Amino acid sequence: MLGTTTELEVEVAKKIQTMIPSAEMVSFSNTGTEATMEAIRTARAFTGRDKILKFEGHYHGHHDYVLFSVESPAAVAGLEHAPSKLPFYPGIPEETAKTVIVSKWNDSTVLERTVKKNANDLAAIIMEPILGSAGVILPDEDYLASAREIADKYDLLLIFDEVLTGFRLAPGGAEEFYGVKPDLSCFAKALGGGAPIAAVTGRRDIIGMIGPGRIGYGGTYNANSMCLAAAKATLTELTRNDDQVFRYMHLMGAKIVKGLRDLLDRNDHEGIVQGLGPMFQLFFTKEHEITGYRQTLTADMEKFRAFRNLMLRRGVYLHPDGMERIMISAVHDEPDVERVLAAAEESLREL
Ligand SMILES: Cc1ncc(COP(=O)(O)O)c(C=O)c1O
Repeated sequence: MLGTTTELEVEVAKKIQTMIPSAEMVSFSNTGTEATMEAIRTARAFTGRDKILKFEGHYHGHHDYVLFSVESPAAVAGLEHAPSKLPFYPGIPEETAKTVIVSKWNDSTVLERTVKKNANDLAAIIMEPILGSAGVILPDEDYLASAREIADKYDLLLIFDEVLTGFRLAPGGAEEFYGVKPDLSCFAKALGGGAPIAAVTGRRDIIGMIGPGRIGYGGTYNANSMCLAAAKATLTELTRNDDQVFRYMHLMGAKIVKGLRDLLDRNDHEGIVQGLGPMFQLFFTKEHEITGYRQTLTADMEKFRAFRNLMLRRGVYLHPDGMERIMISAVHDEPDVERVLAAAEESLREL
């Protein structure tokens, strides 16, 4: 292990800069949890304020500053109209909970109201730009742009947690896809193609505050050569042939989505399939679209699990929890799509 910067670290950071529009600087760590923790600390140091606004159902890892309002039981989410912080995970100090404000996502009126009320204390808004932790829920048109405007208006930072969307939706992640630049972003998962590596990227004036004697961000394994090599190989593959693989993943995703929709119709199951490109989810629901976390909770998760078990018997693995999502990768091809749809056809008939 080297405790100093290597050429490989600089090379991978530069490669990330060419892909992520807002990445003026890059700082590596090992997991998405570490990346969001560091982004939040950096935002607090930069603004001199302590509070963070996160959204219902958004997952940003397992550290104390963000483990609120994830997996809220239906009773809590459904009964309460005020944004809820519950459930309160055991072991998180109450004082820490006071630094977190939870808001409803995909509603810019609610966001502005909440920000306005807390503007003096808020350092940042953190969100998954596409909510991938409650099925897959897309931001309403202009929602991300509104969040950007609100953050600017009240002088706080906007952090995109692109741990799921980064290096998956587009070479520049959701920020490129939706054309909205956050101040800081967090990446992990697809960045290393399976190896544990993460990154915080963003504005030079903010990330430039990290360093000895300034914002603390140590870590034996941060920017270790083995994981950097994996990231370099992954990013090289992803950008080969003019980023062709992203178009391919979108195409394969769209085929599965369309196929599943047709199959739901043909087999008289009430349900929808929604998402974007390689990330999507099937919900057994009467709704025509799911636009928020609470709505996800009204979908029939027992039926999803039964469907998933039937799929598994036919050799197709879906996560058992319908609040997760279906994701395909660059190696899934036409025969895989056909296999998935053939399994879905039989499974939906049997369901
Ligand atoms: C959106 C999002 N942010 C952060 C994390 C945390 O990443 P890790 O599990 O690498 O700590 C995850 C993990 O699933 C995630 O989906």
